[in-house]
Amino acid sequence: MISLVRPIIGSEEQAAVAAVLASGQLAQGPRVAEFEERFAAYCGVGHAVAVSSGTMALWLALLAHDIGPGDEVITTPFSFIATGNAILYAGATPVFVDIDPETFNIDPAQVEAAITSRTRAILPVHLYGLPCDMPRLMAIAARRHLAVIEDACQAHGASIDGRRVGSFGTGCFSFYATKNMTTGEGGMLTTDDAAVADRARVLRAHGMRQRYYHERLGYNFRMTDVQAALGLVQLERLPALTARRRANALFFGSAVGDLPELFLPRVEPGYEHVYHQYTIRVPGARDAFREGMTARGVGTDVYYPRTIPRQDVYRDLGYNDFLPVAEAATQEVVSLPIHPALSPTELEQIAYAVAETVAEIAESSGRPLKVFSSGLSSPSRPKDMSPIPVAPAPATPFELRAER
Ligand SMILES: Cc1ncc(COP(=O)(O)O)c(C=O)c1O
Repeated sequence: MISLVRPIIGSEEQAAVAAVLASGQLAQGPRVAEFEERFAAYCGVGHAVAVSSGTMALWLALLAHDIGPGDEVITTPFSFIATGNAILYAGATPVFVDIDPETFNIDPAQVEAAITSRTRAILPVHLYGLPCDMPRLMAIAARRHLAVIEDACQAHGASIDGRRVGSFGTGCFSFYATKNMTTGEGGMLTTDDAAVADRARVLRAHGMRQRYYHERLGYNFRMTDVQAALGLVQLERLPALTARRRANALFFGSAVGDLPELFLPRVEPGYEHVYHQYTIRVPGARDAFREGMTARGVGTDVYYPRTIPRQDVYRDLGYNDFLPVAEAATQEVVSLPIHPALSPTELEQIAYAVAETVAEIAESSGRPLKVFSSGLSSPSRPKDMSPIPVAPAPATPFELRAER
């Protein structure tokens, strides 16, 4: 079975982690400081604050903007639950508005319509690695004096006209094991605002600026040097890993783009998608499509089968609005393997499996067969399919299940 996720971890990562273990400096130390500096430079911002997860980065960002009880934060219903939960942790109220049907990202027009006197921030999510319409969202925020906290947990390196996500507002990244780069678990807050960065640093370590003097209620959100050492190597690899994801996406586009039953990711000019997920829409036949793919040895998954306000844990919070575009997306989306460790043969296998499955579904539903099952419209292979330069992998091969 071709799995949806296969992290690339080589002996460079092993050596970096081993060096930290040998140094005896295991908790937050010099590797964390170096990782913060490099990640800030990568995103094009002045400051980065490393934390223990993407979820904690989101919570910390809200706290660093002094958002709390009585405040409303406008966000998307179509995301991993951490997006909404972080707002609840801060004691604020998530206000969910609908998404754009083609990008799956928050619809700026709906954001504008949902602003009240209690709104303090907009929290867009660059879902699957595609940037939200940040020019419009930033303009709304400036006009209405709102903070912008970007959930960039799936979008390391994604950009609009060369400007990277995480540099528009306060950025929040995840380095969970299945993300485009990983530290196992981990996260990062990015900002150009020195005051936000300062508050975030103090809150990250028990409200402590001077050792054992605590000026406010803080937390332990710290990252370890072991994680940072891993992150530094992964950050070096990130451009190559992202280029491969994009090449894979280009291949799928040329291979299955003509199939009328499918809606492939749409990317506006100037937007750089980093394809954390390659998510397509299969209206009316998503589950049959998944079955067909599984039968052909290709793993798929659904991100996400239920919107955040429809989750059981949100049931008693009074979210009764029906958000039709997000609800339809939960029934129609499916993600295909796109990760950089896919071989050319696997890529072709996935593309053929898509074409055959779509043809099978069309046939069984009695619709005229618009596509053939025996071949593809001459897919053009990505030009550079040489292996990603990575030193020999760990001794024990492992498979990781995509949980996020
Ligand atoms: C969109 C989104 N937001 C937030 C998170 C939370 O990140 P983490 O798992 O590192 O806490 C994730 C990742 O799982 C995510 O995909």
